[in-house]
Amino acid sequence: MNVYDSDRMQDLMNAVGYENTDKIEDADMVIINTCHIREKASEKLFSDLGRVRIHKENKNGQMIVAVAGCVAQAEGEEIFKRSKIVDIVVGPESYQTLPDLVGKVLRENKKQINLDFSPNEKFDLLPNSKNLNQASSFLTVQEGCDKFCTFCVVPYTRGSEYSRDVKSIYEDALRLSEEGVKEIYLLGQNVNAYHGFDENRNQSSLAKLIEKIASIDSIERIRYTTSHPRDMTQELINVHRDVGKLMPFLHLPVQSGSNNVLKLMNRKHTRQEYFDIIARLREACPDIALSSDFIVGFPGESDKDFNDTIDLIEKVKFSQCYSFKYSKRPGTPASESSMQVEETIKDERLAQLQKLLTQQQIDFNNSFKNKTLKVLFEKQSPKSLKTSSNNKIQLWGKSPYLQSVIIDLDSEEEARNIFGKIHDVEILNSRPSSLVGRINNISHSN
Ligand code: 5AD
Ligand code: SF4
Repeated sequence: MNVYDSDRMQDLMNAVGYENTDKIEDADMVIINTCHIREKASEKLFSDLGRVRIHKENKNGQMIVAVAGCVAQAEGEEIFKRSKIVDIVVGPESYQTLPDLVGKVLRENKKQINLDFSPNEKFDLLPNSKNLNQASSFLTVQEGCDKFCTFCVVPYTRGSEYSRDVKSIYEDALRLSEEGVKEIYLLGQNVNAYHGFDENRNQSSLAKLIEKIASIDSIERIRYTTSHPRDMTQELINVHRDVGKLMPFLHLPVQSGSNNVLKLMNRKHTRQEYFDIIARLREACPDIALSSDFIVGFPGESDKDFNDTIDLIEKVKFSQCYSFKYSKRPGTPASESSMQVEETIKDERLAQLQKLLTQQQIDFNNSFKNKTLKVLFEKQSPKSLKTSSNNKIQLWGKSPYLQSVIIDLDSEEEARNIFGKIHDVEILNSRPSSLVGRINNISHSN
């Protein structure tokens, strides 16, 4: 979601004449887009600001510094107090006003802050992207969350749930397809809670939205993230059976395999319900690859609870996952719990859990050796081509199961035939987090 938001901020500033630069010395403006879900997010922000300060001073203060994202939302005015170089603080639901705020800073020489929650206005005001150069694009359909898991800051920083209208999403998808996009990644903090209105003012669903986007001929792949088990309806599960363009991969965070911890987390689902969803998903789409987030050392997690998580992982078998040690987020209920788990225990549990997940990922990747996979090479044209030590050009693409697939090519001309399209790739080798393959008959491949 932050990558998506950063791209939109770039579009907004491009529309008023700013260009991107890789060199901070050349920058007239720096935007730091922050994520509050990560540990020590605000400390990271202030250490980044310390580095930016040197550049701003070298330019005699002729540099606008903006802090955006969820840390901006959470800390607000406090940021101006802690860092004198910041000119603008803008939240994740109000960054469409960035060009206005920049104008005011320049004209009035005064610091600006906007932390409004106005997602509908935001989407109306965002300009279209130019020169996308990507065959895969994110598309936000839903924002915010009303679930209030006890460890999570999202409901506070992103606000309550908001779903965009079907029409505006469809128009975005059409426009992206005209720009050469082949894969659309539908985004939302709680994407499967999507309930935007359709053209008849009836409430739609993610399942119906996926079907509608699948009707665009040149869109070949659809994905969505992040889902909550509570909103995994049978209608949505059926779409995994019925819509061929929906890729056989699902990120469905469970966080813990213990009913006790799930309750303390206020996850609103049990381990049995999770197993039941997985069974129905596998019935609908037998080859579906599954991914999850896990938190270890949540306050109150006993050895038995942790073993329930290990047991759940062994039963489900995931293709790739994210895992974290629980850490306190200010203002969330779990941060005030008196049952905090010792750091050394969290370290041990995380190591044990990650060892198992890595092994599952290796096993999953190994199962594709000597098979052929359809791979989408996501860049549309060569901007920078990476040459490996043996003078080959390396290209990266994605399999239907979201694995990274690397191929070696002999020439730029070959690369030009590959970019932005889906090709059959024979898998030669597998690594823990990627596959290595080759395309036979490059010129005829499609
Ligand atoms: N501590 C550890 N991990 C967290 N996550 C969210 N909040 C916390 C926290 N306080 C993880 C969850 C979530 C992912 C995006 O980040 O696993 O699904
Ligand atoms: Fe956070 Fe996801 Fe829980 Fe919402 S459902 S509170 S975004 S972890």
